[in-house]
Order: sequence, then C-alpha cells, then structure tokens
Amino acid sequence: MDYRKIISEAIGDPLVTPADITTAAEGHGDYALPCFKYARELRKSPQAIASDFAARLGKHPAIERTEVAGGYLNFYLDRRTRAEEALKDVRERAVLAGIRGRNAGKTVCLDYSSINIAKPFHIGHLMSTAIGGSLYRIYKHLGWNAVGINHLGDWGTQFGKLLAAYDLWGDKTKKLTLNDMLELYVRFTDESEKDPALAERGRHEFLRIERGEPDAVATYELFKRTTLEEVDKVYARLGIVFDSYNGEAFYNDKMAPIVEELKAKGLTEVSDGALIVRLDDYGMPPCLITRSDGASLYATRDLAAADYRARTYHFNKCLYVVATQQNLHFRQLFKVLELMGREWAKDLVHVQFGMVSYEGKPLSTRHGHVVFLADVIENTVAKAREIIEEKNPDLPDKAEVAESVGVGAVMFFALGTQRVKDVDFNYDRVLSFDGETAPYLQYTHARCRSVLAKAEEGGEYDPALLTDDESYAVVKMLEGYNDAVTDAAEKYEPSIVARYLIDLAQAFNRFYIAGRIITEDKALTAARLALTRSVADVLKEGLSLLLIKAPDRM
Ligand code: ARG
Repeated sequence: MDYRKIISEAIGDPLVTPADITTAAEGHGDYALPCFKYARELRKSPQAIASDFAARLGKHPAIERTEVAGGYLNFYLDRRTRAEEALKDVRERAVLAGIRGRNAGKTVCLDYSSINIAKPFHIGHLMSTAIGGSLYRIYKHLGWNAVGINHLGDWGTQFGKLLAAYDLWGDKTKKLTLNDMLELYVRFTDESEKDPALAERGRHEFLRIERGEPDAVATYELFKRTTLEEVDKVYARLGIVFDSYNGEAFYNDKMAPIVEELKAKGLTEVSDGALIVRLDDYGMPPCLITRSDGASLYATRDLAAADYRARTYHFNKCLYVVATQQNLHFRQLFKVLELMGREWAKDLVHVQFGMVSYEGKPLSTRHGHVVFLADVIENTVAKAREIIEEKNPDLPDKAEVAESVGVGAVMFFALGTQRVKDVDFNYDRVLSFDGETAPYLQYTHARCRSVLAKAEEGGEYDPALLTDDESYAVVKMLEGYNDAVTDAAEKYEPSIVARYLIDLAQAFNRFYIAGRIITEDKALTAARLALTRSVADVLKEGLSLLLIKAPDRM
C-alpha cells in the first residue's frame, strides 16, 4: 500500500503530491504534510492551510484521524487496515509481482569475483564475490534478467614464468594444487633476480602460450583448471554462481578491431612507442591501449569485454564490482567508451568497495600476509560449531547448522556495512549472537519458527488484534520490505537489505519480549502467530538475498 498516494488523493488538492507527504515526527502519528510551501500561493498561514485540508479531507478506510500541529497536518493511519495489508502482501506478494512486471525484459550484467588464475583466493576477494553474488540474487528477485560474469585474470606474462617454473621444478607425478603454483611462482621470482636467463626463459614460455604451442597451452590450461577446481569449492559453499567465466584471455582475438576503431576515430596518440588515449581534458592520465612492444593491456581487454557484453547481452546496466583502488581504471574505461560513441557507456557502473583487514592487520600479498578465504570460512564454521555445542548440544544436524551460521557470519561481514567503508574481520564480532550479525538474524528466525512449531496456525486472524505499539512497529517494518530490496538494487548496496533485516529482527524481538505469543486467548494467539509467520518468511527470504541460510532450529 502506498500511503503517501492514499493521503494525497484523500486531500484531493492538485497542489499536493505524494512526494509532499513525509514520515511524521516521533509521537505525531504516521505521516505528515508540511504546509509551509503552499502559503505564498494560497495567501494563508501554513496552519490555516493545514486546517482547511483537514476539514475537506475525504473519508478513507486507511486514515483513522488527523491533527493540525503548527504548519503540519499529521495523519494517524488505521492500524488495523495497515496490519491486514502488510501481512496480506507478505503472503500474496502482489507488490513484488508489480515490481517484477515493470522489470521484465531488463538485463543487468554483473562482473564480480573476477579472480586471478594461479593466485590465492584471499579474503580480499570476498567483498567482490559477496556484493556481486548478492546483487545478482537481488536483481533476479526483482524480475531482472541477470548475467553473472567471472572476468578471470587468466592472461599475462606471469603465466610464462609459472610455466617455466613448473617445467623446472614442478612435481609432475602428483596432482598440482593452488599452493604449489604459488610456491613455484615465488621461487621463480626469487631465483630470476639472481639469474637473468631465467627471466628470459619465462618470456619465451609466454610467447609459446601466445603462439598456441600445444604443450604450452596444455600446461596453461592445467593452471587454469586447477585454480577453478579449488575456487569452485569456495563458490559452492557460499552459494555463488556465474553464467560466464569469460576472462581476459577470451578477448585475445577481440581487441584488434577496437584498436583500429580508436585509431580511425583519431582518439589515439603514440607516446614513447605506446598507443594511448589522452584524457587530459577530463582530468585523467592517459589510458594505455598497447605497450611499445605491441602487447595489449588490462584496459584494452576491458574495452573489448564491454563491447562484447553490450553486443551479446544487450544490457540495461553493466556493473563492475571491484575495489575502490581501481577507480581510475574504470573512469578511464567508461570515458574512452563514451568518446568512441558507445551510447551505452552511461549504463556502466563501477560498484566500488573499501578495504578489508583481518584481525586488525592489513592484507597485503606483497608482505606475505595472505589470508585464504577457504581457511577463514573453515575457522568460522568450526567456531560456530563450538558455540552451538555450548548453547544447544542436543540440536540435531549440528554440522549443517554450524555451516549455515559460519558461512552466514562471513557473508554478513561482507554485506552488512556500506560497501565504501573499510572493514575489519574479527571472529568474535562476526559470530556474536547479539550484535548486528548473521547469527542474530538467524537466531531470530529460528525463534519465530520454534514458536510456530509449537502451535497450530490457522489462516484466519483478526488484524484488529495487532494494533498495540509493539505489533504495529513490526507491521510497519514488514511493509518496508519491498522498498528496502528495491533501494538496495538501485544503489547497488546489499547493506540496505542487511540494515532492514536487523531493524525488522529488533522490532520482532521487542514484540516477542512484550507479551506472550501463545496465550489462552485463541484469537489473540492466531493474530500473533500470523505476524510471527510473516516475520519468519521475510527474514528467511531477505537472508537468502544476502546469500545466508536460515535454519529452522539452532
Ligand atoms: N582480476 C582483477 C583483479 O583481481 C579484477 C577484474 C575486474 N573486472 C574487470 N572487468 N576489470 O584485480
């Protein structure tokens, strides 16, 4: 129900639009119409205008009464109607159906996770993976056609080095792991500092990959396969999916036309042998298109990738969920595409996020402080298991619940804070049952389910029994669910859903503490159970949009 619209229609004056209606100040009803801005036109005091509107107000079942206070006309809505509508909507999803209808046929491309082959999947990648994975679900939920893309970092001279290292020192009798590749790469870097011939060998091997020599390509493919096998395990655990793994290598044969077009449009310049697009007019350093040795660059691949996505998916929006550090890269990329005349360049968005530290320490590969995401998940799940063992030792399927709680804690860590902010991962904090955490939300959900399991719940209830302050606060929260999800999609901000769920859970817990749900009074019990059911359903669905499972018991 759109109460702003209902109120403005009830006033029935062309001067008043739904956007003029604001939420009322604490203790002054539900909504308010500030009348100051009409004073000049109507040549009356705001207070007199508010009184006029009040006197002329048509009767509407959703509006219980009004009150003139200063220049404001305050509206008290009918709590009974509001409860009935909110619960009905959770059940019937008419509002969602409307939203989905409006979004039908729209496509969003999401570039997220986008890991680098033969490099560790560390906790720093968590943010892109979680934010992108969550937005993917949110957009699908709202009726969009979503395309999840893992733009793999699977091209570059480092693969020549790795290949050389593997030939020299790799143990070909046993199965290669991600860790082996890391060790080989580090050893190669160390030894080639002392031995220049080694560096040369690395370059030569990369050339062989580029030329497509079968044995070199086979080993390169082995590196790729090995990395993907390991990261896919992490993705499966987190519930992350992709529709495409087309990464940098995929664009090898798709860059030449772009480079030609840039030249033909007179956008390029040769500088120290390199081909660049000058962006001085836009306050940016030049965008490098090809190096002096002719090798293509990250930006060139991204130009080709954007073009390919536009051609292949006809997107309405294309999101890049990548750390703030790459802000300049994306600004340059979007600008060059605009200069090339791609009218869809305006639909490209860099969804950036801040830095992650781990237990107070910065994460930096260069200084050897690498924290593997798989280990973090493993530890969090183990700790969740300990907590469950202590709190609820008789719980059936403890392992499964611990998995949901542990993974959920990690996900909420990544999604619970506004994405531009820096965040620090701390086990005690993410696993706390009473902070703003996943376990708190999961626990509240399980609390609802356990109440519902204890009582027979009928479909019929009297919404007039949900008009006390605590119930009403829950009703109002339920009403805001679709808006929160829509807002999260529009702002590319899953934390809006997270914030919403915390507020809903807190409102529910106040309701839970204020009075018993299951009482002798059958009618009251039925009404409270209906409210509880709605909260449980919204919590469960909302959590799933954040890639978090909601066990029935914990
Ligand atoms: N692989 C890159 C990195 O780890 C991220 C790629 C992001 N996506 C893109 N289209 N540039 O830094």
